[in-house]
Amino acid sequence: MLITIEGIDGSGKSTLHESLGKALADLDPVMTREPGSTWIGEAVRRAIREQADPVAEALLFIADHAAHISEVIRPALSRGRIVISDRYIDSRYAYQQVTLAGILPDPLSWLQAVHTGWTVKPDITFLLVVPIPVALKRTGERKTGEHFEQETILTAVQKNYLGLAEQDPPRFIILDGTLPAEHLIRVAAETIRYKREDPRRR
Ligand code: TMP
Repeated sequence: MLITIEGIDGSGKSTLHESLGKALADLDPVMTREPGSTWIGEAVRRAIREQADPVAEALLFIADHAAHISEVIRPALSRGRIVISDRYIDSRYAYQQVTLAGILPDPLSWLQAVHTGWTVKPDITFLLVVPIPVALKRTGERKTGEHFEQETILTAVQKNYLGLAEQDPPRFIILDGTLPAEHLIRVAAETIRYKREDPRRR
């Protein structure tokens, strides 16, 4: 079973990911992330840092995903493991739809086409949604200074995420990222346990 956690920078998704690993320790889940589960992540980090050409940056994120799929995701799933990824395919659909706007006529269709045929669709995607000022306050405190962490970009990215969720309601579970962390962890952990017992459950 493949579970992904998505949301804008400052939505609390990495905290949820980390805590889920502990809450589900008895199930021994494979905890992974994008970007950076393989060496290609280093090139991605450099592209983000140096504000590379948006198409080059998008293709590096996609390369990182391809390596993640073949080196981590598929082997773990074939062994029957539960895999929980901090960011995954929807990060591209939400963020690169913004960074590629004005460069490609229809970035989302292009991104979806590039992933077709080799990616693995998640069974559950938790989408953390927060008001933009809350996200900015949290990222401001971290001060990574990444170019994605700007108000206009985060606003557009969150809107894209919600659009993706609207197109695939059975897969997405939208969580209010301002709720106490313990509550979010409990909801997510119980949902995973429930679905694991019978994957056809919604
Ligand atoms: P992180 O903060 O989760 O480590 O991700 C680094 C940044 O990269 C974050 O601002 C989101 C962005 N990102 C994309 O733009 N596209 C992608 O496909 C992924 C995985 C991340």
